Amino acid sequence: HDAYPTEIREYLFKVLVLGDSGVGKTSIIKRYVHNIFSMNYKSTIGVDFALKVVQWSPDTVVRMQLWDIAGQERFGNMTRVYYKEAVAALVVYDVTRPKTFEAVAKWKSDLDSKVSLPPGLGGGSIPTILLANKMDLHEDHSPGLNAEEMEKFCDEHGFLKWFGTSAKDNNNIEDAVTFLLEDILATE
Ligand code: GTP
Ligand code: MG
Repeated sequence: HDAYPTEIREYLFKVLVLGDSGVGKTSIIKRYVHNIFSMNYKSTIGVDFALKVVQWSPDTVVRMQLWDIAGQERFGNMTRVYYKEAVAALVVYDVTRPKTFEAVAKWKSDLDSKVSLPPGLGGGSIPTILLANKMDLHEDHSPGLNAEEMEKFCDEHGFLKWFGTSAKDNNNIEDAVTFLLEDILATE
């Protein structure tokens, strides 16, 4: 007869995707969840949702609820509501637009001021990674991509790590999310 049934562990994680308008948040999510990409820009209004189910290991399933927050929302009053009970975040900027890199620190401090880990997990800031997106358009004179400087920036602002990504070329997105999931699961 059958061996003892394996106990399946299932997790539901709320993960935020933040960053200024047009940096590629929706495109990154569409690439990750549906493996599609479009050059047409349709700005997100308010917030959008996507669900990705990951078979992490034979006995672990992760349901990741991705909250795709419109860049414009940084200037609104709703982020506290949107951030509630998130366990992790990705902050995205566009390597061709320095202003969107300047906004990264603002997104991070908004996040840290409104959401933290539960007291049982130390109450610190939720695990967050930085995505330098549109790397397919990157030229040497693009800002903020010296590896040493980027690591220093991550240390100073409390990012676990940064990744250069391209939603267009499907570059590094899966690796970045996997890294973040590893970190979340390590604290579960
Ligand atoms: P908001 O919803 O306004 O906050 O913007 P967003 O961050 O969701 O940006 P979105 O994903 O809608 O992308 C904006 C534009 O950038 C679109 O025209 C995309 O096709 C384009 N784009 C996104 N990612 C990439 C990329 O990696 N490379 C290139 N070349 N274009 C990209
Ligand atoms: Mg969007």
